[in-house]
This record gives sequence, structure tokens and C-alpha cells, in this order.
Amino acid sequence: MKLSLGIAGAGIFSRSTHRPVILRHPNLELTGLYSRTPESMAAFCSELPQTLQKTLLRYFEFQDFCNSPTFEAIDLVLPIPAMGEHVRLALGCGKHILSEKPVAGSSREAKALLAIWRNTRPNRAWLVSENWRLLESILAARELLDAGRIGKLVGAVASCTVARSSDSPYERCEWRRQIKPQWGWLTDIGVHVIAGLRSLFGDIRKVDSAMGTTENSPERIAEVVHADLTLTGDMPATVKLEYFVKTGGENRFAVEYRIQGTHGRLMVDRESLRISDAAGNPTVNDRFSPFSFDRVMDVFIQTIASRDFDNLQNPLHPESALADLLAIELIQELLRHEK
Ligand SMILES: NC(=O)c1ccc[n+]([C@@H]2O[C@H](COP(=O)([O-])OP(=O)(O)OC[C@H]3O[C@@H](n4cnc5c(N)ncnc54)[C@H](OP(=O)(O)O)[C@@H]3O)[C@@H](O)[C@H]2O)c1
Repeated sequence: MKLSLGIAGAGIFSRSTHRPVILRHPNLELTGLYSRTPESMAAFCSELPQTLQKTLLRYFEFQDFCNSPTFEAIDLVLPIPAMGEHVRLALGCGKHILSEKPVAGSSREAKALLAIWRNTRPNRAWLVSENWRLLESILAARELLDAGRIGKLVGAVASCTVARSSDSPYERCEWRRQIKPQWGWLTDIGVHVIAGLRSLFGDIRKVDSAMGTTENSPERIAEVVHADLTLTGDMPATVKLEYFVKTGGENRFAVEYRIQGTHGRLMVDRESLRISDAAGNPTVNDRFSPFSFDRVMDVFIQTIASRDFDNLQNPLHPESALADLLAIELIQELLRHEK
């Protein structure tokens, strides 16, 4: 039987990723949509199949959407600052919830939500859609590292560059403009990089230091962050996050994890994995799909079917998303107090 689902949020990511994946998924049925404004509702619905355009239940009141008897699961694709409050309202309605990353706008809010959810025993799923945790390339890298393919791990560097033109939809997005100052963009972007790092190596034991530089002019914004972390097993890691905005500039989102071992080096990004041996000769060069949101939906469906809702091994468990956010908050705190 198909899982009947309502989406809340009709913005950029809902339209580009959630809508197509849900529509093509054999075990999902989209039956409801909540949108804040008629404009976004219309834009979302204009690309639905004709039959669904006629039957889809449309809501402009979030509480009515949550109370709908038509669907049993809710997919929240809302702005980060609004996410926590909407998760809280949705938790009160007894539906299964998938919410976009990060888990909430702050770790404090996330902890309060986890307490509310656990108070429900929990008898419904709540998962956080951190799709980087299910990237094929990251999962393959983890297997090779665990198998000792590059020997004992010595250190890692995670680099992420986000470059945007000032007229990109992400730059024009109002709530992103609001959270951007004071390293707020790390909550949107850096959280993915930390999720990837934690998927590869497990927990982050400590954020040792963080340094940032900012350049801000009418034509160009350039913010660069370096943070040194200690991972499980005392392995050192450096995270380098760059955020560039330029009038008429390119749009690029690039990430790479470089992992040094005693017998070689492994490099993994969202669509490739390469290994070179200790002499620098390439031994592995594999390619993968960079899209993992289909897998997010598979995990959501499997979790509901299993009724094993509070399993910390679940890659999309909200506790895991909270750990990503806590690491980001520690980095932000160090940056804000930097002399
Ligand atoms: N996993 C990933 O790779 C990935 C990538 C991108 C984004 N995301 C996540 O997806 C979520 C949405 O991002 P987005 O880029 O799609 O943002 P967006 O384009 O601004 O979409 C947000 C939607 O929520 C609506 N909205 C705005 N403020 C609201 C409020 N206070 N209450 C209720 N609804 C409100 C907006 O309505 P209007 O359209 O009427 O303004 C819009 O439809 C975020 O949590 C983000 O972290 C994840």
C-alpha cells in the first residue's frame, strides 16, 4: 500500500527535489499541499499531472493541513527559522514527519522538540532529511575506510565552496538573507558538510578552534571559515567552508573530503571516489549519483513500516541531525568570539 503524504512548503527545494521524487516514487502518493502564499501554491501545482491538479488538497492554514484526515505523513520543506515551530505543531497531530535539515533553527529548539516527540513514546516517525548522509559516494567511502583500504587513518580535510550569483534564487530568498550575518549561513550549508564528516568517521569529539575572514562590498561577499576538530579515535580533521557571492558570478556548490591514511589517500565528493596508494598511484576511481533524496524517502517509508521509530542507528534520526547542528553552533560560537 502506498504511503499518503502531504508536503508543507512550495519553495525552491520543494519544487526542485521533493515534488519530482515523491511523484515518481512507487510507494508514495501526494495528496495534500500547504503553502504560505497562493503564488507558490500555483507555481508548485502548475507542474503536477492533470489528474493530481484536480484532486490535490490545498491548504493555506498549517493547522488545517496537519489535521487533514487524508494523509498519514507530512513532509516539511520550510525555512530554517520556521522549521521548529512547524515540527512542534505537526508533532501534535499524530502524523509521521519528515522535516528538512537542519533539525531546527537552534540546538535548544531541537532538544525541546525531541523531548516532545519522546513523550509520545514515540509512536510516530520523525526523521530529518539530511540527504548527504545517504550519498552513495559517502557510504562507499565509509565501507572502504572501515575495511582498512588506506590503512590507519591519520587525518582528514573537508572543503566546501559555495559560490552564488547575487541574483540566484538562494541569494534572493528572504529568510536566507536574514540568517546570513554572523556566520548564520553555516546553519544552512555547513551542517551538510558536518553530516558528511560524521557519516564517514562517527562523532565529533571536540571543536578545537575556528577562524573566519569576511569581505563585504556591494559587488562581492567572501566569507571563509577554517575549523579544527577532533574526531572519534583522536583523529584530527580540518573543515574549510567558503561562501562567495558576486554580481553576475557563477553558481557552484562543491565539496570534497580528503582522507589521509598510513597506506594511501581517499578523496570523496558527492559523485566520485578516488584512492591513491602510498606512492601516489591511483587505484580506485568510481563514480556515483549525486542525488540521494530518493533514498531519504525509502528510509522514511521503511521506518514507518518497521515501527522502529526511535532507533539511533537510523541515519535520519533527529538525534544525529542534532549532533550536526551542535558542531556547527560550536564553530559559530568560536567565530563570534574571535578577537
Ligand atoms: N537537503 C538539501 O540538500 C536542501 C537543499 C535546499 C534546501 N533545503 C532545506 O529545505 C528547506 C526549504 O528551503 P528552500 O530553499 O526551498 O526555501 P524557500 O524557497 O524559501 O521555501 C520555503 C517555503 O516555505 C514558505 N515559507 C516561508 N516562510 C514561512 C513561514 N514563516 N511559515 C510557513 N511557510 C513559510 C515559503 O513560502 P513562499 O513561497 O510563499 O514565500 C516557501 O514556499 C530548508 O529547511 C532548507 O534547509 C535542503
